Amino acid sequence: MVSRIIPVDVFDLIIFGGTGDLARRKIIPALYKRFVDGQIPAGSRIIGAARTDMDQAAFQLFARESVSDAIGKSVASEPLAQFIAAFDYVQIDAMGDEGWEALVGKMQSDRIRSFYFSVGPSLFDDLAERLDRYNLVDAETRIVVEKPFGRDQDSARALNKVLSSRFDETQIYRIDHYLGKETVQNLMAVRFGNMLFEPLWNSQYIDHIQITVAEQVGVGGRGAYYDKSGAMRDMVQNHLMQLLCLTAMEPPAKFDPDAVRDEKLKVIRALETVEPHHIVRGQYSETEDESGFREDAENMQSRTESFIALKTHVQNWRWAGTPFYLRTGKRLAARDSEIVVVFKDTPHSIFGPEAGKHRNELRIQLQPDEGITLKVTIKEPGPGGMRLLDVPLDMSFAEALGEDAEAPDAYERLIMDVVRGNQTLFMRDDEVEAAWAWTDPLIQGWEARHDVPKPYESYSQGPTDAKLLMQRDGREWREIGE
Ligand code: BG6
Repeated sequence: MVSRIIPVDVFDLIIFGGTGDLARRKIIPALYKRFVDGQIPAGSRIIGAARTDMDQAAFQLFARESVSDAIGKSVASEPLAQFIAAFDYVQIDAMGDEGWEALVGKMQSDRIRSFYFSVGPSLFDDLAERLDRYNLVDAETRIVVEKPFGRDQDSARALNKVLSSRFDETQIYRIDHYLGKETVQNLMAVRFGNMLFEPLWNSQYIDHIQITVAEQVGVGGRGAYYDKSGAMRDMVQNHLMQLLCLTAMEPPAKFDPDAVRDEKLKVIRALETVEPHHIVRGQYSETEDESGFREDAENMQSRTESFIALKTHVQNWRWAGTPFYLRTGKRLAARDSEIVVVFKDTPHSIFGPEAGKHRNELRIQLQPDEGITLKVTIKEPGPGGMRLLDVPLDMSFAEALGEDAEAPDAYERLIMDVVRGNQTLFMRDDEVEAAWAWTDPLIQGWEARHDVPKPYESYSQGPTDAKLLMQRDGREWREIGE
């Protein structure tokens, strides 16, 4: 199978915060991979813009190190040299005037211009105002912004207002990197490219859906940020919400940005407000050699959650009666993210009670390995009567697709989409605000009740209460790491 790489048009990507962690770890390595695959045409430039006192040569060295760190020793020197030659730098003050004329001087009018705001949201206003004042924006200009996009509905609305006062919504690319993950896009392909699933994709046939994003790492190093955020703001409001939307949405009429985002928005607006007893929050405990959440957060009184599990419903015709269980956390048993669609029992078992209970399960695994497994019930081989057994119909993408299965990093896809002007995998203003509108009352609720998250053992399945959340309904989570 030959993968088709279609080069994008010549572009300039100006990265505000170009010397920062995101640029080093994600943006620059992603650009390198696209460059090596021939997707970035000659003449395109990556211009770092930051307060750091650096010149072009120093920024080129920074880019070179970023690629070697991310990709390792296998980097070939010739393409790397060509790639690095595309890097330029301006020292700039986002809140002052220093560097802006220099940036203007570097601009060329024959190409697509994208400004990546890889900086904290408190700088969005200053950057937007100066881009406008220095006439750096034309109709073809794109603005890329990262999460966190606000910390509640009001702050998200304020950020949207700042951006919309200077740019058109069609120019604004709000990144949720989960949408750039290959399997997340595959969710849409599986649902809407096959006849097999869609007729069964509703509460008549589906008992419940579980969405898990489990991480093994703790919050060490980002503790102070995380303490103000917590799993709800850091993961559920955005990443898990997107997974839920793609799982639950109606088929859009077309695979185009507004058609897809309209359908996702309808899901968010149909979400039930979660009852307090359907939310479990936790904090990981210390181990013999590693600190616990509160030490990592540098706040021994912290009430912030490093784990959350909850049950909600999408209140519409398709999903009435089918609960969605979401869970995410740090320091869990494994890095393991998946969507599990658990089908209902057959209406009548012709094999009698001794055959036991068997259910079909469709498991869409996002990471670490990508693939789809369908659990089907078959007869246990042997002469001993009709005993039933569940076996997986397994499709590992790596096995089925060979080399083509190597999943590109989400940022590779997303940055190329920015240049191509395709907003399908980016969040729209109303979508982000609606997601906060659902999240806010839940957070306000536990804050008002002074709820304290339950401790859980590091590298476990999370707090026992999360297990009970399912068990009370006669259901079970899939084991993390199984
Ligand atoms: C980020 C969160 O958005 O996503 C992090 O801020 C989290 O806390 C990360 O670790 C998870 O991303 P991935 O791609 O490793 O699953």
